[in-house]
Amino acid sequence: MCGIVGYIGTEDAKEILLRGLEKLEYRGYDSAGIAIANAEGVHVYKEKGRIAALRDVVDHDEAAVVGIGHTRWATHGVPSQVNAHPHQSKTSRFTIVHNGVIENYEQLRRAHLADVTMVSDTDTEIIVQLVDKFVAEGLQTEEAFRQTLSLLEGSYATALIDEEDRETIYVGKNKSPLLIGVNEGVNVIASDAMAMLQVTNEFMEIMDKEIVVVTSESVTVKTLDGEEVSRDTYIAELDSTDIEKGTYPHYMLKEIDEQPFVIRNIISKYQDENDSIKLDENIRQAVTDADRIYIIAAGTSYHAGLVGKELIEKIAGIPVETHIASEFLYNMPLLSKKPLFIFISQSGETADLRGVLVNVKEQGFKALTITNVPGSTLSREADYTLHTYAGPEIAVASTKAYTAQMAVFAILAVDAARAANVEIDFDPLQELAIVANAMEIFTNKKEEMEQIARDFMSVSRNAFFIGRSMDYHVCLEGALKLKEISYIQAEGFAGGELKHGTIALIEDGTPVIGLATQKNVNLNIRGNMKEVVARGASPCMISMEGWEDEEDTIVLPHVHEYLTPLVSVIPLQLISYYAALHRGCDVDKPRNLAKSVTVE
Ligand code: F6R
Repeated sequence: MCGIVGYIGTEDAKEILLRGLEKLEYRGYDSAGIAIANAEGVHVYKEKGRIAALRDVVDHDEAAVVGIGHTRWATHGVPSQVNAHPHQSKTSRFTIVHNGVIENYEQLRRAHLADVTMVSDTDTEIIVQLVDKFVAEGLQTEEAFRQTLSLLEGSYATALIDEEDRETIYVGKNKSPLLIGVNEGVNVIASDAMAMLQVTNEFMEIMDKEIVVVTSESVTVKTLDGEEVSRDTYIAELDSTDIEKGTYPHYMLKEIDEQPFVIRNIISKYQDENDSIKLDENIRQAVTDADRIYIIAAGTSYHAGLVGKELIEKIAGIPVETHIASEFLYNMPLLSKKPLFIFISQSGETADLRGVLVNVKEQGFKALTITNVPGSTLSREADYTLHTYAGPEIAVASTKAYTAQMAVFAILAVDAARAANVEIDFDPLQELAIVANAMEIFTNKKEEMEQIARDFMSVSRNAFFIGRSMDYHVCLEGALKLKEISYIQAEGFAGGELKHGTIALIEDGTPVIGLATQKNVNLNIRGNMKEVVARGASPCMISMEGWEDEEDTIVLPHVHEYLTPLVSVIPLQLISYYAALHRGCDVDKPRNLAKSVTVE
């Protein structure tokens, strides 16, 4: 996690770095810092807390046209001013920012730096102290930087300034995301293009184990052996207005509201001129060739993967297993003969997924990434990519990416079924259009959702979400949404499983949200709700037109049963949003979290 930026050009580096860091705050926001270089030297400003706190300590009169910056999500060392980046070497000659984790930092410290007193508790400091040491032993800065990086095990996107050459930034990358942005007389560094759209939309990807020497006039990419590499640039198809909040108080609310448009966008992107599904032939082949699909994901994307499994199995008849990425390598199932791995990730950067991707690629298996960020690491390293077209998702709690992922799964499943001549009576593009309308009806019922959040959640310590079949997967997502932004302890439960232990937690007033959108389990889940009501629970039943009951709190417009998760999650997202708001929580940036989880 963490985000880094760098600037070398002609304008006020300080302001550009601060604005860039504000765009990267989703990657971590427990402390932040910048270092700027001018004729007087290198000046470091850092502070615990958000970028706003950093702004307060920066000397705004200090002019500089070169600088690096960092926003942190702590891994080694508590969030504090001392542990905030940038870090400096013992001579103060070198200054560094780093995103990633150096796994062998303790060994390196013992082997090379036993006589150096570390200032911080971070793994990062080892990098800058090693560069300093190798320079003291006679190496030039670039060589010392290369030598240091070649000793590191783990992940890094890092940028270094040398006080004795203030017109160069040295950059290195392994596993953590990093881009170089280019423009006339100015070059920039960023963990994510969004941060530097203010300067350019022309970027260059940097590969693992490469270093880059950046000046205002040149960008030189090299391998760790010093061999020069040529690299083309690309234009980032991002609109800077996509990443603004507009009139919304929070990104999360904006992103919830965007869901109908996202679904319509997906329909248009995956529809050909005959209104059939448009999909890369190689992906179609890879899916139909597979004797079993393994979906690998984390968090909300994992919950979308659970729905994806149901869709592919029910529609295309291909066996599917969905696995939590961080567990897969340690609890690996016996693999089938012709597996296809599907990695599903909003950011395309999640380290737990990448670990699995690297492993299965080494075993010679094919991988497809479904992501919202096509240029991301998981997208580049997989054989194929499907784009979810949700537009940048900034709020830490994922909303529109989740529904977009499930929509793409529905399209993929039907495409595979048609390719295998499986008879199906389900047109995903038409049905998704109905879903988009249903979502819209719901996003217009905010006052009702706010009232429910106030009645049910605002004073509660805990909450339960119960459902069966597809609804159960949505319950897991509803509970995750509520707990991550409102800090209410919430559990998603299979309706029938409660009575095997957890029902003991139900007491007077415990909020229980039930989902009843699936016809075949409608009566059973209503029975489970009666069981908890009999023990004092406050029920909120969410059903769907067609099999609703007059006592239900929310009745969703009717959509195809395969696609109900895309609609039933909308009230859950809104209830979580308003519950968090009423409890005074920071909705877009919940504590302890970051948007892009690039550590394992
Ligand atoms: C929760 C949330 C996380 C992410 C998870 C995976 O709202 O956003 O649970 O879903 O960290 O991230 P991606 O999808 O980027 O791989």
